[in-house]
Amino acid sequence: MKQLKTEYLGLSLRNPLIVSSSGLTASLEKLQRLEAAGAGAVVLKSVFEEQIVNETAHLEVYNAYPEAADYLHFYLKEDYLEQYIGLIAEAKKNLSIPVIGSICCVSEGGWIDFARRIEEAGADALELNVFFLPADPMVAGAEIERQYLSVVRDVAEKVSVPVAVKISTHFTSPLNMIQGIRQCGAEGVVMFNRFYEPDINTDSVQVMEADIFSTSADLRGSIRWIAMASAAFPDLDIAASTGVHTGADAVKVLLAGASAFEVCSAIYHNGLGVIDRINGYLSGWMTEHRFTSISEFCGRLNYRSVAHPLAYERAQFMKYFAARGE
Ligand SMILES: Cc1cc2nc3c(=O)[nH]c(=O)nc-3n(C[C@H](O)[C@H](O)[C@H](O)COP(=O)(O)O)c2cc1C
Repeated sequence: MKQLKTEYLGLSLRNPLIVSSSGLTASLEKLQRLEAAGAGAVVLKSVFEEQIVNETAHLEVYNAYPEAADYLHFYLKEDYLEQYIGLIAEAKKNLSIPVIGSICCVSEGGWIDFARRIEEAGADALELNVFFLPADPMVAGAEIERQYLSVVRDVAEKVSVPVAVKISTHFTSPLNMIQGIRQCGAEGVVMFNRFYEPDINTDSVQVMEADIFSTSADLRGSIRWIAMASAAFPDLDIAASTGVHTGADAVKVLLAGASAFEVCSAIYHNGLGVIDRINGYLSGWMTEHRFTSISEFCGRLNYRSVAHPLAYERAQFMKYFAARGE
């Protein structure tokens, strides 16, 4: 499937299917299986700032012995991080597809030095997943956006590998935010992140965790913004994420303007075979439509190229009902 080659973050991928950061990419054995199954690249399971804080929290029992607690905090943190760095180095030694490191961080400064260690271990690129839960009514959106950009700037200044930022859909002006992310030195954006969401169980009358996996229907939230971002920033690298489950989903996001797409839930649901099925469909679709490379049709239906851009602008239902005479 030679014609599936694509460029993402300056990396040459044998195909545009990237396996998302998750438990699927948490060990060398899993990464090797993903490569053998046909993945174009992998994003390693994230290092979570939050996770490390929690992992060492139980050591507060040593509060009476501050030196011991300090030592153990340091040791556990270092051990965890060493394992992560080791995984990158092993992955680079054993895989031929690009290996992208991933950091989930919530505060300015917390992970900046670690980004450089990821680079030194050989990662081909770095995906930054920055998310602040805006739970404080006194904190304005503009302040949170400033923090996001500050994290991106600090990391991009520290590393020379390309940086992509995995963003959420929750910005008032997504294109303005992407503009800021680019100005802070990131080469790409992953559109979009998916979060744990609460649900309510009406039988037990308790808050519960909603399904963590997406469906193809979730893709619709991304298509508009991928199409608009790819038109506004033609040299921006976009990886679609959330809701790519089938070959048709893959074709849609590439037409909208992504040059690659990340897949997670579909592999959890259907196993590794889905990688080949998505790539096979994409290849067949390209043959049917006489495309010989991804770049020939990438962005062909973005906001600038599409005959009726209004289709992307329509957000309210008034026109829909007016057109139907209802
Ligand atoms: C079990 C599980 C673990 C995940 N872990 C991470 C993670 O460590 N870092 C991250 O950035 N995203 C993580 N994600 C989010 C996925 O990378 C992806 O963005 C999300 O599942 C949406 O893609 P999908 O629709 O293909 O599933 C995780 C998702 C799942 C289901």
